[in-house]
Amino acid sequence: MGVLQKLSELNLVIKYRKQLKPVLTSYLHFFENTETSVWGSITEDDEQGIKHAVVQSGKHKGPIVEIGALFGHTTNLLASMKRTGVILITVENFTWNPFSLPPEVHRQFTMRTLRYALKHCSTQVFDGNAADFYLANGTLKPSLIFIDAGHDYESVRKDIDWAVSTGCPVISGHDYTVAHPGVVKAVDETFGNNISLYGSVWIHQRRECE
Ligand SMILES: C[S@@+](CC[C@H](N)C(=O)[O-])C[C@H]1O[C@@H](n2cnc3c(N)ncnc32)[C@H](O)[C@@H]1O
Repeated sequence: MGVLQKLSELNLVIKYRKQLKPVLTSYLHFFENTETSVWGSITEDDEQGIKHAVVQSGKHKGPIVEIGALFGHTTNLLASMKRTGVILITVENFTWNPFSLPPEVHRQFTMRTLRYALKHCSTQVFDGNAADFYLANGTLKPSLIFIDAGHDYESVRKDIDWAVSTGCPVISGHDYTVAHPGVVKAVDETFGNNISLYGSVWIHQRRECE
């Protein structure tokens, strides 16, 4: 690489240093913590939990709802595991991703990743806030709800409250770890010991449904 090219690259780094700082911080975080998260998505251990949750939910009627798609990795896993014809709705507002992509780029990336599931696997994206989805779907009774959006206590509390209010037989979510005390608090408060854990995926099954 020539000196001029190096200088021009350095200029770009200086010009975009504000935008690059969060990207670098997030990059180093996920680079250092591969055991608990794969770039904001689930690990192989976590996958076992999702597979188990889908099998359990297959005994019941109703769509599968995912709160928080990110780039569609768990959405694709759910789509690949569920029975044909079961509707899968994923709710995503494109407010966070580990690479600080702008929302419109994040949306484009995710919609492209989900192209096959959207076309062939009865999968839909609700492009908006979970709160708006809950307001618009007061009578929905899903067979499985997978919660993996905001990880602060208030957000998880609201997601779980809605999930419980639907009467859903299998409620699950990601990141039940010390790194996410808000998730642990909201889950423990609601379900106590009545959860099973696969990696950091928690699953609650209504007792009469086990
Ligand atoms: C941890 S990521 C989801 C990871 C994904 N389930 C996976 O394992 O591949 C959380 C996602 O939830 C979205 N999100 C956060 N708060 C939300 C809200 N209130 N409504 C909808 N989506 C939300 C973020 O934009 C982000 O894409």
